[in-house]
Amino acid sequence: SRSIRLAVIPGDGIGREVVAQGLKVLSAVLPSDVKLETEEYDLGARRYHATGEILPDAELASLKHHDAILLGAIGDPSVPAGVLERGLLLKLRFAFDHYVNLRPSKLFPNTATPLAGRPDIDFVVVREGTEGPYTGNGGSLRTGTPHEVATEVSVNTALGVERVVRDAYERAQARPRKKLTLVHKNNVLVYAGQLWKSTFDRVGREYPEVTTDYLHVDAATIFMVTQPERFDVIVTDNLFGDILTDLAAAVTGGIGLAASGNINPDGAFPSMFEPVHGSAPDIAGTGKADPTATVLSVAMLLRHLGHEAEAARIETAVAEDLAARDGAAPRTTDETGDALALRVTG
Ligand code: IPM
Ligand code: MN
Repeated sequence: SRSIRLAVIPGDGIGREVVAQGLKVLSAVLPSDVKLETEEYDLGARRYHATGEILPDAELASLKHHDAILLGAIGDPSVPAGVLERGLLLKLRFAFDHYVNLRPSKLFPNTATPLAGRPDIDFVVVREGTEGPYTGNGGSLRTGTPHEVATEVSVNTALGVERVVRDAYERAQARPRKKLTLVHKNNVLVYAGQLWKSTFDRVGREYPEVTTDYLHVDAATIFMVTQPERFDVIVTDNLFGDILTDLAAAVTGGIGLAASGNINPDGAFPSMFEPVHGSAPDIAGTGKADPTATVLSVAMLLRHLGHEAEAARIETAVAEDLAARDGAAPRTTDETGDALALRVTG
């Protein structure tokens, strides 16, 4: 489409700084006939302290009327752990049915990685985004006593598992290597594991060209470091996917480069794009944050909205910029944003 109505949630800490750079590159890459309308939402720790509000219903309803959402980062040490994460970030993922949490990992040239010099690494994790242990299903008995019992129930529905598994097969089918790996822990989590594995096998019969593999999550962490080239598309549950994608980021250039999309493939709700990293309060305000992960998330956003050429231009600019970084003095957040904006227009 020739216009993009974008909701922007800068959020907390470095989220605000990196989102500014993401928008800078977005404006630079868009052709003049694509109209960009942005609406900024003041959500996060500052708003919470000022008004006590986390994500009011009116704002949730208003967010829905956008083509996509760009989010920086949520979370601040001044707010108890989980309040903003659950009340804002997870609420958005659940409300907008972001059941595909897409997290690509590519080994860019010239990046700090323990795997330098290895064959090309290029895989994508399809992390389930609306179920598993993230649903807030659980509780505590005899809280605060030596006999406390705390449970956190992992919710896995047949429909929820099938739709994300199917999405992963579609993505695997569309890639040159056509390989899909299910990651779970079905030797211990037998009920959920059985549902995932049987769904994976059943849906797989519809995709005879896709090669399949199964790994327990612990073994998957070993292979991600020792043989990352064995992965093409990975499908996994919400919590395993959370952990695995931080590891994936660390071994493919660092968390400063890891982009993600919270996708509602049905298109009923806006999808939301964000860097995998958090609000990093320790470096907020220092200008040290690398905005590249946000810029790459903007590329995913553009691709999702059908602007493939612009998405590819951003990815090329990032690869060139990383190649040019060798030995250069460290740059500020703003300088990296400027450099990328220049490259996408050049
Ligand atoms: C992520 C984050 C979130 C998650 C937190 C902040 C709730 O770690 O996007 O990976 O666990 O999904
Ligand atoms: Mn995470």
